[in-house]
Order: sequence, then C-alpha cells, then structure tokens
Amino acid sequence: MEIIPVNIPLLKSMLSLATVIEAKDPYTGGHTWRVSRYARLLAEDIGLTPDEVFVVHFSSLMHDIGKVSIPDPILNKEGKLTSVEYDIVKKHPETGWSLVREHPLGVLALDIVRSHHERYDGLGYPRGLAGNQISLFARIASIADAFDAMTSARPYRLGMPAETAYQLIAQDSGKQFDPILVDTFLDLGRRGELDHILGHSSEERLLHTCAACGPIIVVPANWKSGEQVICPKCLGNYDVHPDRGDFEVVWDKSINHTWVPQPDTATVNEVTYYAPRDLRLPSNFLQYNVSLA
Ligand SMILES: [Fe+2]
Repeated sequence: MEIIPVNIPLLKSMLSLATVIEAKDPYTGGHTWRVSRYARLLAEDIGLTPDEVFVVHFSSLMHDIGKVSIPDPILNKEGKLTSVEYDIVKKHPETGWSLVREHPLGVLALDIVRSHHERYDGLGYPRGLAGNQISLFARIASIADAFDAMTSARPYRLGMPAETAYQLIAQDSGKQFDPILVDTFLDLGRRGELDHILGHSSEERLLHTCAACGPIIVVPANWKSGEQVICPKCLGNYDVHPDRGDFEVVWDKSINHTWVPQPDTATVNEVTYYAPRDLRLPSNFLQYNVSLA
C-alpha cells in the first residue's frame, strides 16, 4: 500500500493546466469532463476503492494535456489527416507525460496521460503495451475516451448515436479494449447510467448546437442569469433561456470578437472538494507511474 498526501492548492494548479486544452480546441468543450465521468463510473462499477476512483477521475481530466503541442491546423483539420499529421497527433501522450512529470502531483496522472491510447491487443501507441502491461486505470480511460470521441462532434463529422458507439466498442472487445471493462461499460449503458453524461458538458448542462459550427456550445455549470454564452469556434453570441428547459440558447445575430475562453472552474472545484487528503493506493500503482517511465 502506498500513501500519497494530496496538497489541495497543488491539485488545483494541476487541474487548471487541464483547462488549457479546452481553451485551445473548440471541439474539446466538455470532452474532458465527460471522459472523466465515464471513467469514474466505470471505476466505481468494477469495485475500485474511493481513493482509486478519485485518481481515475482526476487523471482522466488531465488525459489530453499533451495536445497543447499539436498545431491548430492539424487539431482543427476538417479532412482526413495525412500520415505525417497523424504521427504528430500520436505524440500527445508522450508530450503530456513530459509536461506533467515534474509536477509535485504528476505521479497521480502520468499513467493515464501516457497510456490512454494503448490498445489491449498491443497495437496502440506510444509504447505498444498489451493486456495487463497497460494499467487498469489507463484501460478504463481508454474506453471512456473512445466512447466520447465516437459520440461527440469533431471538425470533420457529427457524433454518432450512443447505440452505434456501444456496438463498435463491443466489436473491439479484446482488440482495442479490455473485454471485462467492455462488459461493465456496456452494462452501465444498458442501465441508462451514462445518459446524464452523454452530450453534456457538465452536470445538467447539455451541449448546444451552433447553426454554423455544430454542437460545441457550453453553458458553464456556474452560468449566471443574464450572461451570454459563446460558440467557441465562430464566436457567435448566444442568449440563454434557462426557463425553456435544458438552458436553450438562441443566437442574438452578433459576434463577440473580444471573448476569451473561460476555464472550467466548476469542475476544478468539484474535484478538489471531494479529493481525499491522503490517497491509499495499491503498491503497484507507483510501478505503473514511475518504473515504466
Ligand atoms: Fe488523447
């Protein structure tokens, strides 16, 4: 058993780093929140301890931090990536790992940051690990990340229906994904326990659709009456109507060139609020996070 003390200001500083990604990529709105919630549910459902669940939740929020190094024209490209461009994208787990490595709490997130694109059959990246060589935490994050990638909008396509994504995940059981985790995840889906996350950007906040750019408008959890929300891609101003259910938004026919991306402070605060002060983790936790480094 390893005992790792958690310093809350340090935890906040690290989570704030994760929000940098949302500022860079308009299509990431809510992605990290959804991935962290899918991963948390999966971790709870397979019976991990509350401390382990916390690490999965927290480090899933950090998983794509390495995408800061991907040039915008590649990140937002509407067509198919060339093999050179895809090679650049594939560097983001290693980039994230090197960015997080020196942070005092980096050890908590290194594993998921570096290994969320490994595949159970060994055909993933960056290291081509297979089966149990990939930590349980990273195998969990891999399913959560892939499911959200399938069901949310990208520059080149809309998200697919959840049922289609469940079928694709089932087909990849034992190939891309750990088969036991696939069964658990599909079971969560059948029980409707993922529905409050799907298509949302935070608790009780659906993503909304910009007529020009697609479903990428976030109404922040801490939205206040009278505030507008912005399409992060075209910078269209939207009025929010909380009375119309699901916080309906309507374009006010103007563009806000002065808008700057807002950090997701609600998620940062939520995670730090429930963070254990001392994490009790299995002794092989550090093995995945340090000795494979
Ligand atoms: Fe990623």
